Amino acid sequence: MKDASPQAVYLSDYTPPAYLVDKVSLVFRLDPAATRVLSRIEFRPNPDAASGQPLKLDGEKLKLIGAAVAGEALQDGEHSLTDTALTIPASRLPDGPFVFEAEVEIDPSANTALEGLYMSNGMYCTQCEAEGFRRITYYPDRPDVMAPFHVRIESDMPVLLSNGNPGDSGDGFAEWTDPWPKPAYLFALVAGDLVAAKDSFTTRSGTPVELGIWVRPGDEGKCDYALDALKRSMKWDEDVYGREYDLDVFNIVAVDDFNMGAMENKGLNIFNSKYVLASPATATDTDYENIEGIIAHEYFHNWTGNRITCRDWFQLCLKEGLTVFRDQQFSGDMRSKPVKRIQDVLQLRARQFREDNGPLAHPVRPSSYIEINNFYTATVYEKGAEVIGMLKRLVGDDGYAKALDLYFDRHDGDAATIEDWLAVFQDATGRDLSQFGRWYTQAGTPRVSVTDDFKDGTYTLHLKQETPATPGQPAKQPQVIPVAVGLLNPNGDEVQPTTVLELTEAEQSFAFDGLSAKPVPSILRGFSAPVILDRKTTTEERAFLLAHDTDPFNKWEAGRALAKDVLARMVTERAAPGPAYLNALERVARDDTLDPAFRALALRLPSEDDMAQTLFDAGVTPDPLAIHDAREKLMLALAEHLSASLPRLYEAMNIPGPYSPDSKAAGCRALRQTALAMLARLDDGKTAAKQFRDADNMTEQLGALGVLLSVGHGQEELGTFYRQWQSDRLVIDKWFALQSSTAAPRKAADTTLALTRHPDFDWKNPNRFRSVIGGLAMNAAGFHDPSGASYELVADWLIRLDPMNPQTTARMSTVFETWRRYDADRQALIRGALERIAATPGLSRDTTEMVGRILGSA
Ligand code: PHE
Ligand code: ZN
Repeated sequence: MKDASPQAVYLSDYTPPAYLVDKVSLVFRLDPAATRVLSRIEFRPNPDAASGQPLKLDGEKLKLIGAAVAGEALQDGEHSLTDTALTIPASRLPDGPFVFEAEVEIDPSANTALEGLYMSNGMYCTQCEAEGFRRITYYPDRPDVMAPFHVRIESDMPVLLSNGNPGDSGDGFAEWTDPWPKPAYLFALVAGDLVAAKDSFTTRSGTPVELGIWVRPGDEGKCDYALDALKRSMKWDEDVYGREYDLDVFNIVAVDDFNMGAMENKGLNIFNSKYVLASPATATDTDYENIEGIIAHEYFHNWTGNRITCRDWFQLCLKEGLTVFRDQQFSGDMRSKPVKRIQDVLQLRARQFREDNGPLAHPVRPSSYIEINNFYTATVYEKGAEVIGMLKRLVGDDGYAKALDLYFDRHDGDAATIEDWLAVFQDATGRDLSQFGRWYTQAGTPRVSVTDDFKDGTYTLHLKQETPATPGQPAKQPQVIPVAVGLLNPNGDEVQPTTVLELTEAEQSFAFDGLSAKPVPSILRGFSAPVILDRKTTTEERAFLLAHDTDPFNKWEAGRALAKDVLARMVTERAAPGPAYLNALERVARDDTLDPAFRALALRLPSEDDMAQTLFDAGVTPDPLAIHDAREKLMLALAEHLSASLPRLYEAMNIPGPYSPDSKAAGCRALRQTALAMLARLDDGKTAAKQFRDADNMTEQLGALGVLLSVGHGQEELGTFYRQWQSDRLVIDKWFALQSSTAAPRKAADTTLALTRHPDFDWKNPNRFRSVIGGLAMNAAGFHDPSGASYELVADWLIRLDPMNPQTTARMSTVFETWRRYDADRQALIRGALERIAATPGLSRDTTEMVGRILGSA
């Protein structure tokens, strides 16, 4: 049977599993094209489900060799088999508990989707979230069925790993036992010619844990930073959340072919090698920061995701939103909190606001899906984390700590829901959270508009909230929006420290009295809610806040708003950038009391995509080329205005001594890079060319190369770079991405086309595909070339990749999600490209769903 028209799954249709599992034993006889999987599963009827149901096991792309119930082989006619399930009628099942056994054959070498058991560079590895285990054997592949697993791997590969603690091993086999009940999506197996970087960690109750990061021979020298980040994560989760690790070993494996960033399999995390391997010469500061954050994220899942998992995939944000929130807290503690907050909000706006304001908008907890893989989104992850940040602000730090303790106490070992999560907060703090629950069910970014007045010493803020319609949700209810506010006197002193206003109605006013003069408000401090703030202000007021706000986030935000105002006027009125903005930024650039990382962020201009959305929100159809030109002009104007201080700044941020990835040094390099980019506009890239030659670390080498390309030079250096790094895939990914993402607008499609013909363009490798094709989509002006050449090129490659790897194809199709912003000609071209993808015979369910939703027809 084929799925002709893929069926949607609804949250409201949830029913508990008919059978629970007490124990799973698996034997793997590994072979590239014919692996045998023998399973022995102890089932028992679920007392909370209707009795007398058939046993329905999920299974895809499996060859059934044989199966037995209660020791008796299933005969023909005693079960039914489809492309997706094996079903045994109740009449063939004993009353009460029984053992099911099966032997299946699978073909890892033919598995290009990278879901289930597959091969990457001759090594076996697995990816089971969300529904990959069904490609390994027949099983109730749903997160609310949790069981302990015993695994035996038979193979002549030197290293054989699975979840849990190691058991017996010998020539050609190894056994692993995971005592903690887990859903099948957390299963993992790895077999290969691997070497480990090892270390150990002793938990606060004194249990030693052996840590191993497994990589291909030759990469063992690039694991130090990941190991260090892992130990710091383990300690932090003990100190801050009281959570200890619970097995004797914790292993991480780096693989080159991976659809996502990393995966939290119990005791055996599997990582995209890009988020593990680092050395100063090959990894940038951003890479180091990502490694730290993702190592922490996957480790933190051990409690938020694994010990407490999700009842069903609609509850994905229960583990992901919370775990992102936790990794953001961790990174803030390891580095600078304000800088981390600004970076997270930049990400949120670039990815989640973009999603929430287009055809793919969906609630943090969706209520239906066709392919669950399409819901690992910025909304579930990043907005999911913001929702928890709001909850924490509303109940306070102590309330949050109490609620989390109760959550771990009450739900350890459970497959839980968002209702369970909110109930824990209600029970721990006494606060009614029924209205707050709307953050989980309503899609769209609320817009909060603000007006104010001042009379007789009383300053009043009038707030209004409105959430636009999103697909399937025409009308919205008011949400609880925590708006953190502070007030400054005209002389710059803070007269009202940060206080949280709770906006619960569509319209509400808040008064502050006893003031001697009309204050300047600093609203939504720390970005206290994921909303769009709409308030008419003057350039002077923004410059005032940039100079005086005590809240670092809003200080930065004031500068950002200034830049957007200036850019918008440059695009729509061809206005020149005024002195107010240039002088304000000059003060930031020269203020040595400010953290360099903060200054770098304040000096960075809004992205072209951000400007396109901003103009669109203001009722202007964005022209990507005009935005690109305006941004280039502003960069030049800024460079000229700062010309006297740039060389000094560039030199001052040069820290002597060997490269260190710590956040202070990285902050200096970030500011130095900002200075370099401006300098290049004045010295035709001379300083950048020198930096490229002298660099002893990837941050400075790649930074210089990017700057050279952005001012029309760097062709020779591209060649040098390639020859130097030819044998390092992760570095060559950067080489590809830099070219497609920075090519001049009219040349971007041709440049990318040429890159796709490069012998190193291994398009079946997701990292490489994303570097080249995703890089083009990041090049806003180049992607939106009026000829439509880039749209066609991307469509061609999506059509080519889809049969190999639906998951990565579907994810990449989101590059088209903003199409409704643009002019009629571009819309027609994009629609044409999307319709061509949609019409491809045999298109995967993943891509069919995404393209349909983007077009607005699903
Ligand atoms: N659960 C993984 C994470 O958040 C993401 C992931 C999803 C990885 C699906 C692979 C497949 O870290
Ligand atoms: Zn996660």
